[in-house]
Amino acid sequence: MDKTRIAVLVSGGGTNLQALIDAQKSGVLKSGEIDLVLSNNSVAYALTRAKDAGIEAVCITKKDCGGQESFEEAMLACLKEHDIDLIVLAGFMSILSEHFVKQYEKRIINVHPSLIPSFCGKGFYGLKVHEAALEYGVKVTGATVHFVNEIPDGGRIILQKAVPVLPDDTPKSLQKRVMERAEWVILPEAAELVSSQIMKEKESLK
Ligand code: GAR
Repeated sequence: MDKTRIAVLVSGGGTNLQALIDAQKSGVLKSGEIDLVLSNNSVAYALTRAKDAGIEAVCITKKDCGGQESFEEAMLACLKEHDIDLIVLAGFMSILSEHFVKQYEKRIINVHPSLIPSFCGKGFYGLKVHEAALEYGVKVTGATVHFVNEIPDGGRIILQKAVPVLPDDTPKSLQKRVMERAEWVILPEAAELVSSQIMKEKESLK
């Protein structure tokens, strides 16, 4: 059976990309293969991780393209060129337009570092999410993997995992715990769930 062709979109360190690469190696991710890593940041360490794993890595920036519309057109062209079935947003810090997400309905998933619907939507990304969680005083937080639609962090939830908040947590210590115990676990699992579904659909169309 043809595996689901995956593109991982990144902007920074790429630890979630690394979790996906490791999951592919260990067999947790077996119905999909990472064929492309797309970054909107030329100095993202995620690009190095991709190259080290022998995965094609491409950088497309909004600045080089001259605006959101041409940036998205360039990304869509690259995704089509690589015949991508599933897009995984793994620390991708740019909100995609309705036009873009409509082209890949139920084919884009995102990992978010909180238990959605808490601490999510526009303005909640990276460390800011954990700062807000600590400020509010929540005792439990976690991570969510969800489908991406036109509402930021608003698509249907696929997997969630809870993580305790400890009394002396800082945003950084909480971010580390959420990544290690939740994000790096549920992102590969969700990628496998959706990949196996797509693989079956591709097979039934043959
Ligand atoms: C991760 O914590 C991810 O959940 C978060 O950015 C970090 C990226 O780290 N994403 C968002 O906040 C999206 N709203 P990474 O580059 O090491 O995977």
